[in-house]
Amino acid sequence: MSELQGAEAVVLVGGKGTRLRPLTLSAPKPMLPTAGVPFLTHLLSRIREAGITHVVLGTSYKAEVFQEHFGDGAELGLELEYVVEEVPLDTAGAIRNVADKLRERDVMVFNGDILSGVDLRALVDTHRKAEADVTLHLVRVDDPRRFGCVPTDADGRVTAFLEKTENPPTDQINAGCYVFRREVIEGIPAGRPVSVERETFPGLLAAGARVQGYVDASYWLDLGTPAAFVQGSADLVRGVAPTAALALKGDAVLLEGAKVDESAVVTGGTTVGAGCTVAAGAVVDGSVLFDGAVVGEGARIERSVLGANSLVQAGAVVSDAVIGDGAVVGARCELINGARVWPGVVLPEGGVRFSADV
Ligand code: GTP
Repeated sequence: MSELQGAEAVVLVGGKGTRLRPLTLSAPKPMLPTAGVPFLTHLLSRIREAGITHVVLGTSYKAEVFQEHFGDGAELGLELEYVVEEVPLDTAGAIRNVADKLRERDVMVFNGDILSGVDLRALVDTHRKAEADVTLHLVRVDDPRRFGCVPTDADGRVTAFLEKTENPPTDQINAGCYVFRREVIEGIPAGRPVSVERETFPGLLAAGARVQGYVDASYWLDLGTPAAFVQGSADLVRGVAPTAALALKGDAVLLEGAKVDESAVVTGGTTVGAGCTVAAGAVVDGSVLFDGAVVGEGARIERSVLGANSLVQAGAVVSDAVIGDGAVVGARCELINGARVWPGVVLPEGGVRFSADV
């Protein structure tokens, strides 16, 4: 694909990812493995595919991990730069904090935890045609009551940023991807936390700026919760969600050295991490097994995450649950309904059912 002239990207990756704990205790959310690579790799590969090469990462929580993994970005065909916030500056504060690194007219800004098929070039085109100050990707959702919503007029111009309400006037919500005219970023107050949704965007509207919406019906998922994380990973593996970082797509991905007994069933877009073992008769469906996880005989794992080197013993059931790194689920235990086991915790054998944090 040809280069997209006059555009560059900022990816916000500094959040603490509290909803994804305990997984995010050891790695920041954008670095959690999805379909065998850090989630951020999928997003960076799509940015590159759209023809953008200069990308600045706005980091804060576990900042060093990003540079250690991605370096100067050359492997992905990118020129990557990093800016660290000593104190988290929230979304708009983080965008303002990278202003010195920016040099193009149009700056695409991405939340680092969104999996989306939006046509990035079409988004930039819309921004340029509308001569907008900011253009937001908006996505239609089934239940807009759970989100703040963003109505637009007949020209696609954003008319308001509304808080959550029982009767939202539109099903359009902020999809966490924007194009900013660079000067607009320079107008964000520096050196203090600022939120794009609560301060910057409403402020721009109030000041009469042109704030444009780009609505589309492509794949979209915010990977902020454990349920969304396993869904997104499975969608990547099965080719339902777009990525330019994976060549193989199928019902499951087995990484290097993973051993799956021939009588086990691994399906539903599951990723079996490097060095994992899945024993005889086990069923693993729509789940993510981080490197070194072990699933015992006849165990059943559904829509769950098994942390690195965790162990699920024979006959246990792990359903809609998160098992922290190195934790042990004793034989025949049941972990269901959003249960989370903290890293290193050992649950004894014996048929106990858990549906909360342990
Ligand atoms: P939760 O704690 O589970 O809500 O997750 P989060 O900390 O990632 O927050 P949220 O999902 O609302 O953040 C949206 C995006 O903005 C994510 O990609 C975050 O990494 C990023 N982000 C949030 N706060 C900051 C910040 O203070 N600085 C930077 N650089 N990025 C941030």
